Amino acid sequence: MLQRPRRNRKSEVIREMVQENHLHASDFIFPLFIIDGNKQKTEVASMPGIFRYSIDNLLLEVESCLKLGLKSFDLFPNLEESLKDKTASESVNEKGLYLRAIKAVKQNFPEACIVTDVAMDPYSSDGHDGLVENGEIVNDKTLKILADMSVAQAKAGADIIAPSDMMDGRVGYIREALDQNGFSNVSIMSYTAKYASAFYGPFRDALNSAPKFGDKKTYQMNPANQREALIEAALDVQEGADFLMVKPATTYLDIIKLLKDNFDLPIAAYNVSGEYAMVKAAIEKGWLDNRAIAEKLMCIKRAGADVILTYHAKEVLENKWI
Ligand code: PBG
Repeated sequence: MLQRPRRNRKSEVIREMVQENHLHASDFIFPLFIIDGNKQKTEVASMPGIFRYSIDNLLLEVESCLKLGLKSFDLFPNLEESLKDKTASESVNEKGLYLRAIKAVKQNFPEACIVTDVAMDPYSSDGHDGLVENGEIVNDKTLKILADMSVAQAKAGADIIAPSDMMDGRVGYIREALDQNGFSNVSIMSYTAKYASAFYGPFRDALNSAPKFGDKKTYQMNPANQREALIEAALDVQEGADFLMVKPATTYLDIIKLLKDNFDLPIAAYNVSGEYAMVKAAIEKGWLDNRAIAEKLMCIKRAGADVILTYHAKEVLENKWI
């Protein structure tokens, strides 16, 4: 045998020497859930180890992440039902929970990178990402709402705006609104290929944001489709996106690879709540070892993700699993 691939696996030193991919703290964006009040820290039942924080505790959490080298955060608000309405008006309330939280983090930790979520669902009495008229999620009227939300978040200090709504044309519309309001340096991380997935269940529990009727299939993509992701990605590039995101991640590695091979923008992958819950539940039961977590993240990176949004970000650094 001339070729013995095992020679390159014979010792730890050589394995490390030939290792093709590495995970670093700088690869990660850590999603954080926010609730109103003081000294609040409530665990999400379906996401053990993940909490909703009031702003005071959010600052402590961000501080402890920064100490681990984890510097990027994606914030999501959990709002009381009484604050929700048809047009998501709470999303532009400067005194509201979300914009206050962004400002507080940015003021206390200017070195942190704040990613903010743009979609109507946490603020909408219909629980949909777009405006609902006669039972339909209407596209074009939603764009203005999303753009106002984006400008308000940029004003509060967002570094990267991440539209997760999947309306057509929103990246270009938001880009123009940001530029017109003096925020040409605020980036857009587009949820480019976001699928209508059952793996978002625990997230909707965390935010109490599940749709009040129907599902999200008229705007989020069909899990059966691959080539359609190319259409979405080409549009986002044309409209001025700075990052292309694939979501979910582990069951959509082919989509990550497809976008990586066809586009030059950085590719982000969202390792979603259901993917987190699955692994954590199996570990809790003793059916899987903790090592499954770093392996899963490495596979997302190997598939082509430059950036990984994951609820595991803090624990892998804290426990030195990477
Ligand atoms: C909402 C949004 C969702 C997620 C991020 N932004 C849920 C949805 O589309 O219903 C899911 C994140 C996760 O499951 O971790 N616009």
